Amino acid sequence: MTTAKLMLDGREYELPVVVGSEGEVAVDIRRLRAETHAVTLDSGFANSGSCTSAITFIDGEKGILRYRGYPIEEIATEASFTEVAYLLIYGERPSAEQLDEFNRKLTYHSLIHEDMKNFFSGFPATAHPMAILSAMVASLSSYYPRSAIDNVELNIIRLLSKARTIAAFSYKKSMGQPFMYPQNDLTYTENFLHMMFAVPAENYHISPVMERALNLLLILHADHEQNCSTSTVRMVGSSEANLFASISAGINALWGPLHGGANQKVIEMLTRIRDDGGDYDKYVEKAKDKDDEFRLMGFGHRVYKNFDPRAKILKAAADEVLAEMGKNDPLLDIAKNLERIALEDEYFVERRLYPNVDFYSGILYRAMGIPTNMFTVMFALGRLPGWIAHWREMRNDPKGRIYRPRQIYTGSTLRHW
Ligand code: SDX
Repeated sequence: MTTAKLMLDGREYELPVVVGSEGEVAVDIRRLRAETHAVTLDSGFANSGSCTSAITFIDGEKGILRYRGYPIEEIATEASFTEVAYLLIYGERPSAEQLDEFNRKLTYHSLIHEDMKNFFSGFPATAHPMAILSAMVASLSSYYPRSAIDNVELNIIRLLSKARTIAAFSYKKSMGQPFMYPQNDLTYTENFLHMMFAVPAENYHISPVMERALNLLLILHADHEQNCSTSTVRMVGSSEANLFASISAGINALWGPLHGGANQKVIEMLTRIRDDGGDYDKYVEKAKDKDDEFRLMGFGHRVYKNFDPRAKILKAAADEVLAEMGKNDPLLDIAKNLERIALEDEYFVERRLYPNVDFYSGILYRAMGIPTNMFTVMFALGRLPGWIAHWREMRNDPKGRIYRPRQIYTGSTLRHW
C-alpha cells in the first residue's frame, strides 16, 4: 500500500501512505493544502499522527505497550527505573558501565541551588505540589548561564535528578518539616524515599518493599507515546524553547483531571463511595448518566480499547505490596468491586471502557504514605524520561518544524467598525 486516493470537488488526488515498523498505516497529508487548498479537521487529534517516533509502541486494541520494543510486562519486573530512563532517552539498554556512569551523574546532580529554597517560603502551605513542581522546573533555567542552557545532555541529567529533589522538598514544606538532603550512597529511588520520609531526629530505614513499589510505579509511568502532556512538551520544544521550559509545560498539561490528575481523583472518588456506604451501583449509574458530571475516574482511555496493561500490573502489585506491608486498604476492595460491576455493564462494555493506569496507582501511593495531592507529582517523576526522550527526538529531527496546526474559521465574515 503506497498511496491513498482522495476525491475532492470533482478532482482526484493521490496521497502517499506511510507504514510504520509495526504495520500502522498513515495517509501522509503534508502536501494536502498545497495541492487541494483543503486541510483536515480532527478535534482532539484522535485520528492524526503528529510525528513518527521510535520510542514507544502502543496497540490499544491488544493492550500492548513496549518501550523501544521491550514489553512493559518484562521491563516492569526486570529493570531499574534509571535503566528504563536511559533506554527511553538514548534508545538502547545501557551496559553496566554506562548505567554506573548514568547513576553517578544523577547522584552528583541531585542538589538544587540553595537560593531555590527561597521559592518554598513564598508558596502558601496549601500550594498544590504540581504548581510548585512546574514553577521550580521552569525556574531551573535561571540557575544556568545561557551557554549551559544549550548543554542538553547535562540538563537532561540535572532535570531527572533535581525534579525528584524538588518534589520531596515540596512534601517536606507541606508537612512543615526540614528538608532532607539527598545522600550519595543511595540509589535514585532510595534517595527519593529518604528525602520524603527521613527526619533529622532518627535514622530512616528504607523499606525494600517500598523501594520496589516505587521503582515499579515510576517505570509504568515512564512513557506513553503522544499523550496530552508529551504532545505538549513536543509542541513547546518545537519553538526551540529550552528543555526546562518545555518540561514545565508538560507538567501543567499532566495536572488536568482527565490526564495525570486522574490518580488523585480516583482516590477521592473511592473515598466518596466508601463514605457513602459503598453503594457501587449508585455510582456506576451516576457515571452513565449524561446529566450527571460524575465520571468513573481511572476508567476509559483514548487509545486502550482493551485492558491498560499497566492497570493489570498495578492491580496485582497492590495486593502484593499491601500484603508485604501488612496493610489493608478498604479502598482497594471498593476499586475491585467497582471494576467488576462496570465491566459487566453494557454502557462500559459497548464503549470499551477499562481501568487505566490511574485506577490502581493511588492505592500503592497511599500504602507508601504519599499524600493524595502528591500523586500527580509521582506521575510526573515517572513520565520525565518519556517527556525528555520525545523532546530530544523532536529536536534531533533534521526535518523538524515548529508545531503550528491549521483551523477552520467559523466566526463573523467581513464587517466594518
Ligand atoms: C491518562 O493518552 C494517554 O496515554 C494518557 C495516559 C498516559 O499514560 O499518558 O494513559 C494517562 O491520562 C489515563 C486517563 C486518565 N483519565 C481518567 O481516568 C479520567 C476518566 N476518563 C475519561 O475522562 C476519558 O475516558 C478519557 C479522557 C481518558 C478519554 O477520553 P476520550 O477518548 O475523549 O473519550 P470520550 O470522553 O469521548 O468518551 C467516549 C464515551 C463517551 O460517552 P458517549 O458520548 O459516547 O455516550 O465514553 C464515555 C464518554 O461519556 N466515557 C466515560 C468515561 N470515559 C469515557 N463515561 C463514564 N466514565 C468514564 N470514565
